[in-house]
Amino acid sequence: MNETANRGLILGIESSCDETAAAVVRNGTETISNIIASQVPTHAPYGGVVPELASREHLRNIVPVVRSAMEAAGVTYRDLDAIAVTEGPGLAGGLLVGISYAKALAAAANKPLIAVNHLEGHIHAVLLEQAQLKLESGMEDEPLPLPALALVVSGGHTHLYLARQRGNGWSYRNVGRTVDDAAGEAFDKVAKLLGLGYPGGPWIDALASHGNPDAVPFSFSQVKSKPHRRDEAGGNKLATLFSFSGIKTAVLRYVQIHNMHESIELRRKALTQIADPKPADALALCDRQTLDLIASFQRAVIDDLRRKTFRAAGALGAASLLVSGGVAANRELRVRFTAEAIEQGVVLAFPSLALSTDNAAMIAAAAWPKLQAGEFAPASLSAEPSLALGKAAS
Ligand code: KG4
Ligand code: ZN
Repeated sequence: MNETANRGLILGIESSCDETAAAVVRNGTETISNIIASQVPTHAPYGGVVPELASREHLRNIVPVVRSAMEAAGVTYRDLDAIAVTEGPGLAGGLLVGISYAKALAAAANKPLIAVNHLEGHIHAVLLEQAQLKLESGMEDEPLPLPALALVVSGGHTHLYLARQRGNGWSYRNVGRTVDDAAGEAFDKVAKLLGLGYPGGPWIDALASHGNPDAVPFSFSQVKSKPHRRDEAGGNKLATLFSFSGIKTAVLRYVQIHNMHESIELRRKALTQIADPKPADALALCDRQTLDLIASFQRAVIDDLRRKTFRAAGALGAASLLVSGGVAANRELRVRFTAEAIEQGVVLAFPSLALSTDNAAMIAAAAWPKLQAGEFAPASLSAEPSLALGKAAS
């Protein structure tokens, strides 16, 4: 394996949820190829990811997706320095498909295998994007001011991490989490409740701009929950707690009080009759009251994320803020976080839209410091569906 070393080429593989993805990234900074096979059409009829179906789709897609990533990059397995794969968190069946295939490839090509935490991958999507922008613009390498507060906000997670660089590697302290649903899950559930498509985030994002965000006064009360065991153990006084199940119930109550069920069912039916329906199709099927409800829901969620994240950044002395995960693709989130960052004088960075949702370029990028540190996966590597990232705040 030595004759091809030091090219800095890592093949990343991601299969933790409903995207089968593979990418080749050089030196953790340059995406050479990035292939994603989405399973949206498989899960759309159910309004959520069906784990059993996801595993089968990953199995179907993994070989062609990895092959496409290698072909698009114009490299052979001999050229690679390592193979990186998502270890967790995620759906066990999906993770097992990616890990088994990555193990087999690593053994056959005699390359080291690197295990990556999916959440660390989302954080590295921002760092990869920043590095790529510098590479393209030819600007001097100006590192992000540290420590950075990273908000990972997706369908499965709403977490805050304080990230520091230690030599070539990174260390993380978990300083915030949701006590119930993830923010993306709330988008998906509310979209389903209102008879919109799946996944719900992009539908709500597109429709919210047509409604009045002040029409329905949703409020987020202070989260009162029993301390999490880990928080207790770590004396996690600085932990920020999010909660998104209450707003979902509030939307349901609004729908019941205003007798909106019939119009929702008509919309749901009309959309099923359109091949590959898009949010623009739903717009014509939404009345003002529905659009106002959607806009108010989105404003409430984004404002809660913004308020708590910036408060945590101030309390923890974070010099920059990194926002990633599927919900980071939301247009209103980007606008409102950007305005607040300017006001607070905090450096704010997002990944491009393509790197906000699940992808394998972020997995290959997160593996780069591990390759340099010689942090390789043991032969016994297995799926870790509940894998945590970093220590709890102390
Ligand atoms: O990061 P991701 O692809 O997968 C997970 O790790 O969960 O995130 C998917 C989530 C879904 O809940 C989806 O509805 C949400 O991200 N999402 C959005 C937007 N695009 C995707 N939420 C709000 N606005 C968007 N534009
Ligand atoms: Zn994700």
